[in-house]
Amino acid sequence: MGDRQLPRWSELKPLLRPKPVEWNPTRRRLDKALTIADLRRTARRRTPRSVFDYTDGAADGEVSLRRARDTFAGIEFHPEVLRDVSNIDPTIEVLGKPAALPFGFGPTGFTRMMQHEGERAVARVAERFEIPYALSTLGTTSIEDVAAAAPNARKWFQLYVWRDRRAAEELMSRAKAAGFEALMLTVDVPVAGARLRDIRNGFTIPPSLTLRTVAGTAMHPAWWANLLTTEPLTFASLGSWDGTVAELINTLFDPSMTIADLEWIRSQWDGPLVIKGIQTVDDARRVVDAGADAIVLSNHGGRQLDRAPVPVRLLPDVKDVIGERAEILVDTGVMNGADVVAAMALGADAVLVGRAYLYGLMAGGERGVERAAQILEAEVRRTMALLGARTISELGQRHVRLP
Ligand SMILES: Cc1cc2nc3c(=O)[nH]c(=O)nc-3n(C[C@H](O)[C@H](O)[C@H](O)COP(=O)(O)O)c2cc1C
Repeated sequence: MGDRQLPRWSELKPLLRPKPVEWNPTRRRLDKALTIADLRRTARRRTPRSVFDYTDGAADGEVSLRRARDTFAGIEFHPEVLRDVSNIDPTIEVLGKPAALPFGFGPTGFTRMMQHEGERAVARVAERFEIPYALSTLGTTSIEDVAAAAPNARKWFQLYVWRDRRAAEELMSRAKAAGFEALMLTVDVPVAGARLRDIRNGFTIPPSLTLRTVAGTAMHPAWWANLLTTEPLTFASLGSWDGTVAELINTLFDPSMTIADLEWIRSQWDGPLVIKGIQTVDDARRVVDAGADAIVLSNHGGRQLDRAPVPVRLLPDVKDVIGERAEILVDTGVMNGADVVAAMALGADAVLVGRAYLYGLMAGGERGVERAAQILEAEVRRTMALLGARTISELGQRHVRLP
């Protein structure tokens, strides 16, 4: 054993590199989140149970969502080495315009309930990251207010068709006037899915002050203070509502819609038309034949039909049938930028995320959404480099094996 000596200050000093202290508690919390799963854990702590469960949960046994996430996790990547990957370019073109990253923020209802900064925060982050954002018909910020909050964002409007068709026509013309570039018609909600967590939690919109929620208030005072001191939860389109989400859907939505109605939508909307919620190859072909410019392969994040097909699995077959006639977007189960890259390699033109940004929102408002986007972007870039793909168009099915 060599002789020991006391360390000298001159030797110690270079080892002492204190990190700058982050005084802002939200930032500190968000900086610690390295993955979307980390943001989810923070979101869970900071949000009343019934609201977190509404966001996090899915229908029935939640099999559709679990399978979709497991499919992504089970994908095997086949990297190609010795490619110059010093410059990674993750940009794409979707619906005829550029986007800086291969994913966008999908439509989610009641966003301001999850955290009071709501849709404006999501739209602003989309604007800064130069990615599209689809505002939901059940959004809690008006079409015009979202447009004002993020005038340069690429904005799409997601439409649910009410029994009262005039209401849909009015929404389409407001979206057009406010500069929304595309219409996304969601077709997988003829009736409400069975969101069992919501039933068990007695969840209503707006959240009601029952004995149980009042008890929960003590645990989440800031959330309730924010809810009660910001604009009441009204809808982009509907005014207000008092009841459960399932009651709302089953009262207002039109279960009699058929493919013939696409003609009516087409006559009202002259921009790009995206049909969201396609789950079979045949339906993909039918709606493209009927004039859709793009489809979203989606099972609504597992919130509608349980045991539904895993959307990313449909990609290769749908691509074979649709070819270049329409663009193919995909969502459900994306929790990591590597999932986005895998979907692009399997033939998607773009990917949508839902919960990934909502976990960020619940974890820390606009900064939390930004953190979610940063995490996904870093994962996309790193996965591309490790796969040996400099651009999105260099990705191919050879890079991915589905489980
Ligand atoms: C809380 C929540 C609300 C949603 N609201 C809508 C909606 O109003 N309209 C719609 O078309 N899809 C809605 N979706 C589905 C999303 O657009 C998307 O299909 C889904 O979240 C994708 O799955 P992911 O959450 O695993 O990314 C909602 C999803 C969540 C989680």
